[in-house]
Amino acid sequence: MLCYNDVSRYRPVELKKGGRRFLSISGGTRAVCLVSNTLDIISHSSAQTQRLGVRLGELLQGGELILLDGSLGTGKTTFTQGLAQGLGIVENVNSPTFTLLKEYPGQPRPEIQPGTPKRIGPALYHFDLYRLDNPEEILDLGFEDYFYGTGVCVVEWADKADKLWPAEHIHIRMKLMSETKRGLLFSATGTRYSTLLRQFQKNTYAATGS
Ligand SMILES: Nc1ncnc2c1ncn2[C@@H]1O[C@H](COP(=O)(O)OP(=O)(O)OP(=O)(O)O)[C@@H](O)[C@H]1O
Ligand SMILES: [Mg+2]
Repeated sequence: MLCYNDVSRYRPVELKKGGRRFLSISGGTRAVCLVSNTLDIISHSSAQTQRLGVRLGELLQGGELILLDGSLGTGKTTFTQGLAQGLGIVENVNSPTFTLLKEYPGQPRPEIQPGTPKRIGPALYHFDLYRLDNPEEILDLGFEDYFYGTGVCVVEWADKADKLWPAEHIHIRMKLMSETKRGLLFSATGTRYSTLLRQFQKNTYAATGS
């Protein structure tokens, strides 16, 4: 089912119907729903895409795998920049096109509640597989260890090695809808990631709802 959450304008109200979770939007005409473990969002600007990345990054504890796909310029790096910010990483994040992987050490997390001790967040491993010729290269380069490690792995052009990914992950498919509009389809596989996606959805709407 194709349905969009327009995060810029509406606040969701949850309804239960036939065992599935539907979200209707108060005051809006755009159809919105969350079916099982997927979530569709429309972003209207690169700043908004970046903010979505921040919301997801804030929730990550380490050991997560986030796969990103979508044609050139759909916002994969923009989203990753936000995600890094959510992890507390201040270093400028660019597409690591010529190196396949760029590593960012863990940094103190943004303060959740005033007065709580600063925690060092997980490292970020940012992969860009655009220039990957053969998925086997991932194994040859020893990258597999990262996917089962304690850092957060974000992989642009993940479909280039689609047979290699651990079964559990979040996959975000990004689609160009207009010059400034992007569709982001989030799919979570596995309980941990489904819970994460649910929390991401809640936080996103808590931040954008009126
Ligand atoms: N809603 C939007 N979300 C994300 N980016 C947007 C949006 N609207 C416009 N843009 C622009 O689209 C471009 C996205 O570039 P970005 O490098 O993030 O894409 P990418 O998917 O990583 O591309 P590549 O496949 O080349 O790595 C930027 O110039 C950004 O400003
Ligand atoms: Mg990129």
